[in-house]
Amino acid sequence: MKKYNVGIIGYGWAATAHMDAIEATKQGQVTAIYSSRPLDAKKISEKYGHPVKTYQQLDEMLADPDLHVVDITSYPSQHRNQAVAAANAKKHIILEKPMANSLQEVREIVAAAKSNGVMGCVCFECRFSGQFTSTKAVIDQGLLGDLHYGEVDYYHGIGPWYGQFRWNVGKKDGGSALLTAGCHALDALLMVMGSEVESVTSLSTKSKSDIFAPYEYDTSSCTLVKFKNGAVGKCAAIVDCLQPYYFHTHLVGSQGSLLDDRFHSNKLHTDKKHWSKLSMHMLDSGDVADHPYQSQFQAFFDALDEGREMPLTSFSQSLRTFEAVFAADRSAELGGVPVRVADL
Ligand SMILES: NC(=O)c1ccc[n+]([C@@H]2O[C@H](COP(=O)([O-])OP(=O)(O)OC[C@H]3O[C@@H](n4cnc5c(N)ncnc54)[C@H](O)[C@@H]3O)[C@@H](O)[C@H]2O)c1
Repeated sequence: MKKYNVGIIGYGWAATAHMDAIEATKQGQVTAIYSSRPLDAKKISEKYGHPVKTYQQLDEMLADPDLHVVDITSYPSQHRNQAVAAANAKKHIILEKPMANSLQEVREIVAAAKSNGVMGCVCFECRFSGQFTSTKAVIDQGLLGDLHYGEVDYYHGIGPWYGQFRWNVGKKDGGSALLTAGCHALDALLMVMGSEVESVTSLSTKSKSDIFAPYEYDTSSCTLVKFKNGAVGKCAAIVDCLQPYYFHTHLVGSQGSLLDDRFHSNKLHTDKKHWSKLSMHMLDSGDVADHPYQSQFQAFFDALDEGREMPLTSFSQSLRTFEAVFAADRSAELGGVPVRVADL
């Protein structure tokens, strides 16, 4: 018997990757699924080799005292109500990004978790990727010195070939270039720069291609970030491009630079005219099967065992990223006026 029984909310693409990842952890197993569609519990139980109950009413699933964790993989506009209901039912929460599509809703989720004494895990799983654990290790070893500039950009064309397209094109669930997916890059930028955000300035636009015409919002944005320690950064969130998936990283510090999987460090006395190569698995696909959910969920369950917030992607940590996201979208709405996070 594993220690944490998990109930999934929403049974789409992300859910299937989450379920495999939860099952692969030491302590977690999926024992329930809530979906508005009728599901075949027998078939799903057979696939996982143990009983999985299915529900069409969320309150019935949340009433199960044997359920310890709820994993929310539904449409973004449903996240707030489902997360608050899960917190009030005293369930720990795994929550897909975006946490919600307004800062008010994100704050309500964080407050509900806090007042009910439950822990949260936001699916900013890139923080657990080989690319960013190695990048962070290079920084923490001091090989780049003090960072004064960083850019992390997200290039991923989310067109009709992508399952989410059917709901992602709407403002209600898609939100903005940052909310729908670019938030992964802004979140990674905040992690590597290691300083609080003071203000952001953002501009947005969209492709003239017919492919992306159904989108109700700007699908490209470019955000400049002013950090409290004086450093500056940039994050492009481009979901209307026609090119391979690319998670671009360029960091500049007092001892060297890092460009994706290459770096130079004066500390190593290597040749500054040539990059040195780091061997690491790059984030090069939007496929959820390639995402490092297993390491992230393992870290969450380990933290639950110890009764503490998880590292890197707790609710309180991710709230900071969403404050920067909503400040950036506000700035873009205002045509590029700087917005201080403290003023939101
Ligand atoms: N962290 C990541 O990298 C990542 C990647 C993909 C998705 N996501 C997030 O996960 C969440 C869900 O995205 P998804 O890609 O799984 O979307 P999806 O369209 O596959 O599923 C979304 C919702 O639609 C429901 N659904 C799916 N097919 C349906 C159908 N035929 N009829 C009725 N309902 C159906 C699902 O049960 C789910 O509630 C979103 O918040 C998204 O942003 C995150």
